[in-house]
Amino acid sequence: MTWSGSMNIRIRNFKTDDFEDVLYIESESFTEHNPFAYMHFYEMHGDMFLVAEYLDFIVGFIMGYRLNETEGRVFSLAVREEFQGRGIGAMLLDSLFKVFYSNLLKYATLEVRTSNLKARNLYRKMGFIPCWIEKEYYSDGEDGIIMKLKLSSYRFHDLDLFAKKIESISMRDSERFDK
Ligand SMILES: CC(C)(COP(=O)(O)OP(=O)(O)OC[C@H]1O[C@@H](n2cnc3c(N)ncnc32)[C@H](O)[C@@H]1OP(=O)(O)O)[C@@H](O)C(=O)NCCC(=O)NCCS
Repeated sequence: MTWSGSMNIRIRNFKTDDFEDVLYIESESFTEHNPFAYMHFYEMHGDMFLVAEYLDFIVGFIMGYRLNETEGRVFSLAVREEFQGRGIGAMLLDSLFKVFYSNLLKYATLEVRTSNLKARNLYRKMGFIPCWIEKEYYSDGEDGIIMKLKLSSYRFHDLDLFAKKIESISMRDSERFDK
């Protein structure tokens, strides 16, 4: 059986019930973990904490915050492994940009590991430009690249545009979707 179309993926605000699922994705995605950051984010920047939902499952999340008067910072972004490469990362970014924009922010910025080519490709595709390198930004000594996107130059999309690849996810994938 094949899912039909993108309607099965929904981007919405994080709710406290999502906490466990988000922590699961965090644990499979990152080597550095900070569970407390998530509730803190929810309390401080709830409107900028979004999740991607497939049926009743959380398959990805993005967290952002207002860094200063003009800048929204993408703090964290991750998609469940089985659901990567289907446009969900792009959908989450696009949705967070909409929140930044409605908060009258002018730029989106983020930092990414130099070795994280998948994420760097995604950010470049979304229009981020590398600005400078933060030497030994991460606790393991890896450098970080600071990237920036001007929101007035970004063309917002109907999420269906990103979700085209989702049409090809089969039920075999969801059978593997065990917690
Ligand atoms: C980075 C991440 C969020 C991307 O999410 P995703 O849902 O797989 O991304 P998308 O499907 O929206 O991919 C869009 C673009 O990302 C890039 N990309 C995706 N998978 C890739 C891969 N395996 N190799 C290289 N580039 C890749 C491509 O540019 C792709 O566009 P294209 O399909 O038109 O070529 C996801 O891989 C992830 O959760 N990684 C682990 C956590 C992480 O590294 N987070 C970022 C921290 S800064």
